[in-house]
Amino acid sequence: MSLTGKHILLGVSGGIAAYKTAFLVRDFVKAGAEVQVVMTDAATHFVTPLTLGTLSRREVITDMFPRGAAEATTHWTAHIDLALWADIMLVAPATANTLAKIAYGFADNFLATLVLALRCPLAVAPSMDVDMYRNAATQHNLTLLRERGVHVLEPESGELASGLVGPGRLPEPETILHWVEGLMVETRTDLLGKKVLVTAGPTHEPIDPVRYVGNRSSGKMGFALAAAATRRGAEVTLISGPVHLPTPPGVRRRDVATAREMAGAVDEEFPSTDVLIMTAAVADFSPVHPAGDKIKRDAVVGDRMTLEMEKNPDILRSAGERKARQVLVGFALETSNGLHHARQKLAAKHLDAVVLNDPTEDGAGFGTETNVVTILMADGRIDRLPQMSKLAVAEEILNRVAPLLR
Ligand code: C5P
Repeated sequence: MSLTGKHILLGVSGGIAAYKTAFLVRDFVKAGAEVQVVMTDAATHFVTPLTLGTLSRREVITDMFPRGAAEATTHWTAHIDLALWADIMLVAPATANTLAKIAYGFADNFLATLVLALRCPLAVAPSMDVDMYRNAATQHNLTLLRERGVHVLEPESGELASGLVGPGRLPEPETILHWVEGLMVETRTDLLGKKVLVTAGPTHEPIDPVRYVGNRSSGKMGFALAAAATRRGAEVTLISGPVHLPTPPGVRRRDVATAREMAGAVDEEFPSTDVLIMTAAVADFSPVHPAGDKIKRDAVVGDRMTLEMEKNPDILRSAGERKARQVLVGFALETSNGLHHARQKLAAKHLDAVVLNDPTEDGAGFGTETNVVTILMADGRIDRLPQMSKLAVAEEILNRVAPLLR
């Protein structure tokens, strides 16, 4: 049986497709899983807790605070216990309302509270009327969830309960079952107990108290790596330059601004880490004398000003010089002669792998959701990967790092 011994939390929110979860629960149980169903209040109008409780052989949870004082004292931390118990949580159907709550971290019902406490992967199967699904708010919430590594099962297109036609249908239970089986296989633990240090984002080098020299790095690649490594069992520290991204669950984050601060933080963390992955777009130069006060326009004589810059420390190179057992991965952003420069970097910085990307290619580089990369390994292996999400690129990188740790 494909799901033998797996603990599945099934969150059911209030859409007409909730009736399909009766079949889904039965399929999960048949596949060997233990299923705990959690329902929102609205969901109980579409399918009864008695139905899902009977099929799952476990009492369905609907209330944060069940009636009866004695029960309440033993029950109110159930969200924490269940969150630790689960191997995966699936919200199906996930209504627009429940998706919004999850995206924004609400904890105003049992289902949403449970989601906040999870340590396991979260999967959602959106289902709603076509216009609610296409609404910019819903699409934005789904983008937020995807960025955080939540697995999203696209709804199917067809005739909806309202009579309208379009995307919004919950896929059949069998399809959902196979999808969840696939996710469980993907959940590897090959980095269990390993310490992974990831740097991400740009650095900001001050010119004066309000201005800086920076670059367009969004930090997405590094955050995707931190999330993926955590899911594979690693203890992850993420040293991030100034970015606008939420910290992936379970990741320890240190924020820095300048290249020198990043170098200091890496120096501190490096001796105790097993892997260092430098995705950060570290500024190569910084102003030599940042002004203590804002530089006034009138203070500059004539039409030009010169900013004197000095080289920043090469963090990765010094890590390469210090490395003992550590696996080192660098990124190379090249706009011409990429393979040649990447190979040179691999050797010069004593790296185990270099991830080469060209920001001028479609679907690659700063700020995009996807990347097109070539991975060069120290043993000479070169793999050019097709365009894929940054999370998928992260998994590909970790697939190559994990065997080097044995
Ligand atoms: O030599 P180049 O700057 O292209 O190398 C890029 C790689 O080196 C990236 O992994 C980047 O994070 C790292 N780097 C660094 N310190 C710098 C500049 C780049 O660690 N000052």
